[in-house]
Amino acid sequence: MLINKSFLITGGAGFIGSNLVEYLLENGASEVRVLDNLSNGYRENIEPFINDARFEFIEGDIRDLNTCKKAVEGIEYISHQAALGSVPRSVKDPIISNEVNITGFLNMLVAAKESPSLKRMVYAASSSSFGDSAKLPKVEGEEGKPLSPYAVTKWVNELYGDVFSKVYGFHTIGLRYFNVFGPKQNPNNPYAAVIPLFMKAAMEKKAPIINGDGSYSRDFTFVQNAIQANVKAMLATPDLDKHEVINIAVGERTTLIQLWDAIAAAAGVNIQPEFSPNRPGDIPHSLASIDKARALIGYDPKYTVREGIGITYEWFERKFSVGV
Ligand SMILES: NC(=O)c1ccc[n+]([C@@H]2O[C@H](COP(=O)([O-])OP(=O)(O)OC[C@H]3O[C@@H](n4cnc5c(N)ncnc54)[C@H](O)[C@@H]3O)[C@@H](O)[C@H]2O)c1
Repeated sequence: MLINKSFLITGGAGFIGSNLVEYLLENGASEVRVLDNLSNGYRENIEPFINDARFEFIEGDIRDLNTCKKAVEGIEYISHQAALGSVPRSVKDPIISNEVNITGFLNMLVAAKESPSLKRMVYAASSSSFGDSAKLPKVEGEEGKPLSPYAVTKWVNELYGDVFSKVYGFHTIGLRYFNVFGPKQNPNNPYAAVIPLFMKAAMEKKAPIINGDGSYSRDFTFVQNAIQANVKAMLATPDLDKHEVINIAVGERTTLIQLWDAIAAAAGVNIQPEFSPNRPGDIPHSLASIDKARALIGYDPKYTVREGIGITYEWFERKFSVGV
């Protein structure tokens, strides 16, 4: 399926991007190029591919249009993952989140739109676009108001995706990820997500800190489900005639307490969590409808949260034995 096809993965040294690169190379892609400035990604994530003749790394910044244009040259499929993630980071420094996530995104859209070789661009959107809407499950088209600078940036991406489709006839697909987790997600980053933090606590046999009383729930999504969505969105949509946004999740809700219990069970520890106040802007519950993704690209998540946690915990254990 991937033979004789060329891919550009922006943010390919990051968590989701490097898992996607690994999948593409393992499954026969003829060319995989990564554009990443290593601001939040890690050279070690791409080191295993450096000697593969089909792999190319461009260390560069999506805020520079010429860099984006060079990265896109000769490429057929783009998965645009580069962005500054994390709501708290965007609250601390909204200007840099805006520059990377909006200006950088716009640069990639322009570079892709002008490329004669390009067949499809997909990009990482976010469940944060549902904002303050309390309705469950979350269905595309039923968004509320954004709750953070990060959510604004991801929402603006979708607005640009729509406008590029209408104005230039350049059609992209936004993948609204819901709390993706898995191997290669760094727990030592100041803006680390909840699952790598819980994994680290379990490995160190320490109590995890839960913001709130543990009843908040999320549609946690194992990274291989997100990889499947990327590949299908890139390849299975030759007849796309407008901009589309689709939820990428499992359609299952797990509370933070249940999440900790599953991780503690995988680690074989019995430790009670500690609780701290809720974080401002955190919505109580998130659960996706994935009907649109199923219909549009044939998305069919293969991994449950529990399976994903088992695989991820094993990876963390291996990694920690040589140091993350
Ligand atoms: N992980 C999740 O749960 C989740 C949820 C919703 C959306 N997303 C989105 O998915 C994408 C990938 O997320 P991730 O968790 O892998 O994050 P990540 O931080 O691990 O990966 C992002 C990559 O982008 C790179 N990058 C940042 N700024 C750049 C710039 N100016 N130029 C070039 N490269 C730059 C970073 O170095 C990093 O390698 C992001 O767009 C994120 O907003 C992630």
